[in-house]
Order: sequence, then C-alpha cells, then structure tokens
Amino acid sequence: MTTLPLPLGTERLRLRLFTPDDLDDLYAYQRLPEVARHLFRPPLTRDQCAQSLDRRAAAPAWTEDGEALVLAVCPKDEDRVVGETVLKLESARARQVEIGWIFHPAHGGRGYATEAARATAGLAFGALGAHRLFARLDVLNTASARVCERLGLRREAHLVENDLDGERWASEYVYATLAREWAAREGGSGPDPLTNGLDLPSVP
Ligand SMILES: CC(C)(COP(=O)(O)OP(=O)(O)OC[C@H]1O[C@@H](n2cnc3c(N)ncnc32)[C@H](O)[C@@H]1OP(=O)(O)O)[C@@H](O)C(=O)NCCC(=O)NCCS
Repeated sequence: MTTLPLPLGTERLRLRLFTPDDLDDLYAYQRLPEVARHLFRPPLTRDQCAQSLDRRAAAPAWTEDGEALVLAVCPKDEDRVVGETVLKLESARARQVEIGWIFHPAHGGRGYATEAARATAGLAFGALGAHRLFARLDVLNTASARVCERLGLRREAHLVENDLDGERWASEYVYATLAREWAAREGGSGPDPLTNGLDLPSVP
C-alpha cells in the first residue's frame, strides 16, 4: 500500500490508527445499545473491543477484497477517541470502497462525523485510489443518511428487507459517489487513473 498520509488533520479533528491504549474510549461507545441499534449486531463486549484493536493497529496492505482501514477520531488537541471511520475495500479490482462511521453520542450533533467522513473520503479517493465510494445504512438511520447527504453522496438504491436485525426485517439505502464527482465538488483528489482525466462527463 502507498504510505498513508496519517494522521489526517481537519479543522477540529485528528484521524489516526488505533492503538491498544484506546480500549476504554472504544468500549465507551461500542458498548452502547443506541450506537449498535442500526448496525444489525449487538453492542460489543470489552473483550470484543480488545480483539478488534489488535486488528486495527496496522494499516492493511489494501490489495485484498474485504480489507478494512479503521481510523480513530480524536478532537484536534486531545488524544481521546470520540468515534471512528472505516474504509473497506469491497473490490480491489474495481476499486469499490465502502465507508462507515460510528461516534459516541456524547459527541454527536457537532458535525464531527461529517467532518471526519469527509477527510476519510478524501483519503479513499486520494492515497487509496478509490473509483467509487459507497455507504450502506439502515433506512431508519436518519442521522447517518444526513451525513451521506451532507457529503454529497447520491442515494442509489433502496434494498427492501435485505437483512435481519434480530426479529425485524431491515431495509437499507445505498449512497455513493464517484472519484470524478468528488474531485469536482471537493477538489484535490486528482483524476481517476483509469480514465486519466479524459472524457469526464459533467456532474449533474
Ligand atoms: C451516524 C452518526 C455518526 C451521526 O452523528 P451526528 O451527530 O448526527 O452527525 P455529525 O457529527 O455529522 O453532526 C451533524 C449534526 O451536527 C449539527 N452541528 C452542530 N454544530 C455543528 C458544526 N459546528 N458543524 C457542523 N455541524 C454541526 C448539524 O446541524 C447536524 O445536525 P442535524 O443532523 O440534526 O442537522 C451517529 O448517529 C452514530 O454514531 N450512530 C451510531 C452508529 C451508526 O449508526 N453508524 C452509521 C452506520 S451506517
């Protein structure tokens, strides 16, 4: 993998790899039922958080389908973790990357998730060479849908009862954007290597 430009800095936040010292902060939000509510799984135990930290400590090679890069999000001048963003390489061949975010509710409603997700999307389209970035979310997860919309992702699909959340059939939205659309809106990520910057349709 190209050397990642980590940590990422934004106006108010710093995004870095997790370390074993982050266990208390990670467990503080992953243990909450309201955080897990739309993730189609139970809250995590402390042991599960500790195991996940082992996997999160290093950046993946970014060559195999299913590899994930999870970033700890900290307020700029503190080392405490208030949430996380994740990029998952859905298809290495087609450069399809899934993005996700989870934040402690105590730090919600300040735009942190949107700010961190924007920086993470920039990393996906920049150093990680994504062609298309997408998010999948429970249709009931209105806060997450608003994050997608603030980022300019397009709602591309409404999957109906495609998953089971305990006893409830769950439906999902898929939101997405392409590298050239992101570059036109946000700038900086450069041309899609496959098209070499040529023949770019105008973004609606
Ligand atoms: C999804 C999740 C990250 C969204 O959190 P959030 O706090 O709504 O999102 P942000 O941090 O971007 O904050 C945005 C809100 O802060 C407000 N805000 C306040 N001050 C702000 C500022 N200075 N700058 C930007 N926004 C600000 C915005 O108006 C917005 O409010 P609105 O959505 O009511 O319009 C959070 O609900 C969560 O972690 N949920 C559990 C895990 C989960 O479901 N993850 C997604 C799986 S797909």
